[in-house]
Amino acid sequence: MKIMVVGGGGREHAIIRKLKESPEAEIIYALPGNGGIAADAECVPIAATDIDGIVKFARETGIDYAVVAPDDPLVMGCVDALEARGIPCFGPRANAAVIEGSKVFAKNLMKKYGIPTAAYETFDNADAALRYLETAPLPIVIKADGLALGKGVIIAQTREEARQAVIGMMREGQFGKSGNRVVIEEFLTGPEVSVLSFTDGHTLVPMVSSMDHKRAGDGDTGLNTGGMGTIAPNPFYTENVARECMDRIFLPTIRAMREEGRPFKGCLYFGLMITPDGPRVIEYNCRFGDPETQVVLPLLESDLLTVMRAVTEEKLAETEVRFSDRSAACVIMASRGYPVSYEKGYEITIPPEILPHVYIAGAKISDGKLVTSGGRVLGVTAVEDSLPEAIRKAYEMTDRINFGNAFCRRDIGARALRAL
Ligand code: AMP
Ligand code: GLY
Repeated sequence: MKIMVVGGGGREHAIIRKLKESPEAEIIYALPGNGGIAADAECVPIAATDIDGIVKFARETGIDYAVVAPDDPLVMGCVDALEARGIPCFGPRANAAVIEGSKVFAKNLMKKYGIPTAAYETFDNADAALRYLETAPLPIVIKADGLALGKGVIIAQTREEARQAVIGMMREGQFGKSGNRVVIEEFLTGPEVSVLSFTDGHTLVPMVSSMDHKRAGDGDTGLNTGGMGTIAPNPFYTENVARECMDRIFLPTIRAMREEGRPFKGCLYFGLMITPDGPRVIEYNCRFGDPETQVVLPLLESDLLTVMRAVTEEKLAETEVRFSDRSAACVIMASRGYPVSYEKGYEITIPPEILPHVYIAGAKISDGKLVTSGGRVLGVTAVEDSLPEAIRKAYEMTDRINFGNAFCRRDIGARALRAL
């Protein structure tokens, strides 16, 4: 089969490596891929948001199966456009991707179907939002409705911070149209768990649970990033919690989407917080998480292409999805200064025996060398029999990789280890 993967980060690298293991995968194209992915797939310089370009390439190349990985093309209707030309895809259509594309939609869905989440109000008028903030309890969480590169969530400790967040989003257009509406919600506490799932709209199979580390600095300090490292499984996701999530969150969500005439097919990501009152949904994503995928897929023992096609063909109930009971840890190496500003263009050196453990996110080939080209540069994943070993091994490999201005958090998995 000729396969096409839309996207070009560490997540896509992990998806491509897994797809390559499939005996049915003849050739894999990455659109646009990156300098590291080029070792595992044919990279084609078409942007992940260039829907017309993607469809044209797929038709001309005779693509048999497409995987659309990032949020923006999904929300823009990339799957709809490919399916209209008869190309089978993994990923939700636009009318289902809205579960990530609009936080107002997601919150209203949860309210309507009784799915546990933080209490909230939505606003499309800045004056009303500011009035509400005069008496709202603190801290309080303000979220831009639409996609905002993971930056649209502000946790305000003071009334003034909350006011500034609303003014920035609704009056100053900090996130463009994404901030025309906002959700203002209750601040919750408790450990966070990411659960990615395969779903064909009827059956849902959770993947192994994981934990992201979103802040840039050790001890969860500093700015929010796309994610500085992950571990799997997440020790806070006990069997009891898993059962409750399945009954009260996962199945009700896919049922709700069906009832709304928006069946969700693809990878549905549940961002959960395990509060003292039980699990709550913090966010839905319509796609694989990054860098969650870099710890979850290495633990998948079943053939990824078979599972993905079962999702497309709505045959997930008859398909085995098996995960290893080992543990995984992924440490992200970033350019110093990320997520604000950073220098790039530094050569990356990776010992060859470590290469199979590395997923490249922000690198390109320049004069035949692999050089940094982004904030998050790469992720190093170790799979071992226990979580402490996986973490130790991931750092051991990280320490043998070099590039200019490199930095990583030194405490990935520390909170999980304390819970064990
Ligand atoms: P999101 O972009 O929705 O993933 O939010 C970013 C981060 O903000 C989450 O990973 C949480 O750590 C935090 N967050 C979001 N909503 C809440 C909430 N209601 N209470 C506490 N923390 C939250
Ligand atoms: N790691 C969080 C996300 O992919 O949204």
